[in-house]
Amino acid sequence: MTKIFAHRGSSGTHPENTIAAFQEAIRLGVDGIELDIQLTKDHELVVIHDYTLDRTTSGSGKVEDYTVEELKAFDAGSKFSSEFAGETIPTFREVLALLQGTNIELNIEIKKRVEEDTGIEKKMIRELEEFHYLQESIISSFNHDSLKRVMALNQNLECAILYTKKMEQPWQYATHIGAKALHTYLPETDHEMIIEAQQNGFPVRVFTINKDEDLESFFQAKVAGIFTDFPEKAMNLLKKVENID
Ligand code: G3P
Ligand code: CA
Repeated sequence: MTKIFAHRGSSGTHPENTIAAFQEAIRLGVDGIELDIQLTKDHELVVIHDYTLDRTTSGSGKVEDYTVEELKAFDAGSKFSSEFAGETIPTFREVLALLQGTNIELNIEIKKRVEEDTGIEKKMIRELEEFHYLQESIISSFNHDSLKRVMALNQNLECAILYTKKMEQPWQYATHIGAKALHTYLPETDHEMIIEAQQNGFPVRVFTINKDEDLESFFQAKVAGIFTDFPEKAMNLLKKVENID
């Protein structure tokens, strides 16, 4: 059965990557939550997608140029809707605390533009250990050097390659770097690849699917997982598809 991941939380109905969006995903009973992590100036982990603050918060400039305390002063809800004024950029720890007692899978996407060792992977693993959330976690990144670093630190963590350009037999590349799953871009993902990858033992999870017809089509293809901004709608559609099957 396809697992539904709330992309940046329930980000179609709530401000992305905020506690409000994650709380809504938990309330809905999603299978998983996806979020993005970055390092602050004072080497803390925060949950935010863009490398800059401008699109989603009241701040401006680069995330990495601010300390956590400075980042916490910005509003991360009002740009989505005034209803969410007062939401802040969550720390990774705050989200892990929120997930305690749930069995929700957590897909942590490491946002990292540079190759050198910034310490983000080590810090993420340390916080996952602290909150006993390693087993429920899947680590992904477009930065495959970062994934290699994660796997060198902890072989048991499931790592998934993120990529956008179509690859022939992407599971072979994943095997080469040691990753265990494929997180693939919707316009570049076809059903044949999904079937073949999953027969070869590589779960495929597709981002980001919001249209009803695409959701139904990938549910019918029995893809391992999908990322969506509208988890409630996706959960209802999945029930419908399962009843037809
Ligand atoms: O992890 C899937 C998806 O979130 C990757 O793209 O840009 O939404 O972080 P993006
Ligand atoms: Ca992401």
